Amino acid sequence: MNTMATSSPILTTREIETLSSKAQAAKEVAYCPYSKFRVGACLLTQSGEYITGANIENASYPVGTCAERTAFGTAIVAGQREFKAIAVATDISPPASPCGMCRQFMSEFTSPSFPVYMYDKSMKCTVVTIGELLPGCFGPGDLDK
Ligand code: THU
Repeated sequence: MNTMATSSPILTTREIETLSSKAQAAKEVAYCPYSKFRVGACLLTQSGEYITGANIENASYPVGTCAERTAFGTAIVAGQREFKAIAVATDISPPASPCGMCRQFMSEFTSPSFPVYMYDKSMKCTVVTIGELLPGCFGPGDLDK
């Protein structure tokens, strides 16, 4: 079990609207000259802060980073450790779901019920939990067994 995580899947309509608009805005600043695949993310902390991220690619392709990890990394270095939800916006339909590396990265800081709001090109939303995206994941607690 991931003992580091705390989160509630209950969000207000305003929180969901803010998450979606900020994720969409973050998509506009994606640096993706190679794939041209824009991804924006917005993370809501338990303290009510919104922290955005976007994918940042690199001429050395594997060095690029996904939007989700950019958002979580920014939040972690800002001292945040507890999160309510993340929204991810792309230009495709159905919406893109987080890659495997991002699923593992996010699971470090979230509980299985942590919601991931995935928005497609028309801002139509699909919601899944981290537990659904990465069942039976390896977590911090496993290091102590
Ligand atoms: N990408 C993300 O930002 N998040 C994901 O979960 C999937 C993929 C980015 C990485 C790369 O810059 C582009 O999308 C195409 O793979």
